[in-house]
Amino acid sequence: MTGSHLILRPATAQEVYYVHELNAAAWAGALDVETYHDREQTLASTPLTRNGGLSTWVLVDPADDPHKILSSCETTKKQALISTPRINGDTVSTVRQVTAHGVGSVFTPEEHRGKGYAGTMLQLLAESLKRGNADGFSVLYSDIGKKFYARFGWQPHQSSHLEFPAIEEGTVTGIKFLRSNDVPALCVKDIAAVKEKLSRPPLDLRTKVAFVPDYQTFEWHWSREEFVAPVLRKHIDIKPAAKGAITADGKRWMIWNRDFGKTATQLYIIRYVNLSRSLEETKEEKQIANLFLAAGREAHRWGLQKVIMWNPDEICIRAARRVAGSTVQVVDRESDSIASLMMHQPKQGSSPQDVEWIANEKFAWA
Ligand SMILES: CC(C)(COP(=O)(O)OP(=O)(O)OC[C@H]1O[C@@H](n2cnc3c(N)ncnc32)[C@H](O)[C@@H]1OP(=O)(O)O)[C@@H](O)C(=O)NCCC(=O)NCCS
Repeated sequence: MTGSHLILRPATAQEVYYVHELNAAAWAGALDVETYHDREQTLASTPLTRNGGLSTWVLVDPADDPHKILSSCETTKKQALISTPRINGDTVSTVRQVTAHGVGSVFTPEEHRGKGYAGTMLQLLAESLKRGNADGFSVLYSDIGKKFYARFGWQPHQSSHLEFPAIEEGTVTGIKFLRSNDVPALCVKDIAAVKEKLSRPPLDLRTKVAFVPDYQTFEWHWSREEFVAPVLRKHIDIKPAAKGAITADGKRWMIWNRDFGKTATQLYIIRYVNLSRSLEETKEEKQIANLFLAAGREAHRWGLQKVIMWNPDEICIRAARRVAGSTVQVVDRESDSIASLMMHQPKQGSSPQDVEWIANEKFAWA
């Protein structure tokens, strides 16, 4: 039975290990359990997650067995920005840097399911996040539709993507592949542009939020592909060194991450930046198409089935069609990876009517 006597507390190191043992069936993918443990340890020791960046939480019943895990989840701290419109004669936006939390790996062992444990855990977690980080917000990516997490405050936001199959043929031109050491300087430009976007005089009275697209966030994503590639792609005698592509004029780029899943394998474009819309539209499309071709060819090189980009704008959809024609699909997801957001100040509201989530892309996923 669930109830107010249950507590949510940080997991011990031993419990973290046990939680992975429990949830391996859901998330180990093509890895065996031992390798999954190692991957999770690797992901927990990046600059983003070490030293308290990542926390594992367990719901237990102190009155029964305080070591029996009824439900568990993780939170990752990330840098984010909030801009709130103010109207005093002029309409201006004030941008604040805050901490945001990504909630992930929500899991109830099979024998305890359907008893309200995940619900109780999320309620306690929401209260704790609001208390400890009152000025911030949190997000999670629901794989069980739009309703369950909304009950506890995480409201569904735009969750669409474009996808197309890996591209077998074609010469990549007009771009340069990015190495990880090219990316810090690009992050500086990207972050400045995101801040500028949030500080513009608002067109409406919605709060705007964005995760900071910083280098340590990309490093966390890459640590997964770098761990998994040598295990699952032994026959490819190279490292996943190309981390994205940039157009020759340096104004548009994509950063990507390879996902070697058990059944579906894909190259995710985790961040897309366009610092200039000054080109004539067809030229613009051609430049972005060059980036998509680079992504499609890279997916093929790594034996991945497709390329996926979250929440693409219209010009990206047209550009993708230039290289992949009618194989491009645009999907509004209804059940998996539903980007869901909760402002920790309840009066701000959390739905898309109240909050505009800028740069709602895969890099923010945890
Ligand atoms: C999802 C999960 C955490 C729910 O845990 P739980 O302790 O059983 O949850 P609660 O008892 O608090 O709530 C149950 C409710 O969850 C929702 N739910 C559970 N699984 C669902 C699914 N696959 N699709 C939609 N809703 C689902 C339903 O609203 C359900 O209510 P119902 O039993 O009246 O239909 C658990 O089923 C699990 O660990 N699944 C495998 C891992 C997973 O998918 N995690 C979620 C990742 S976003």
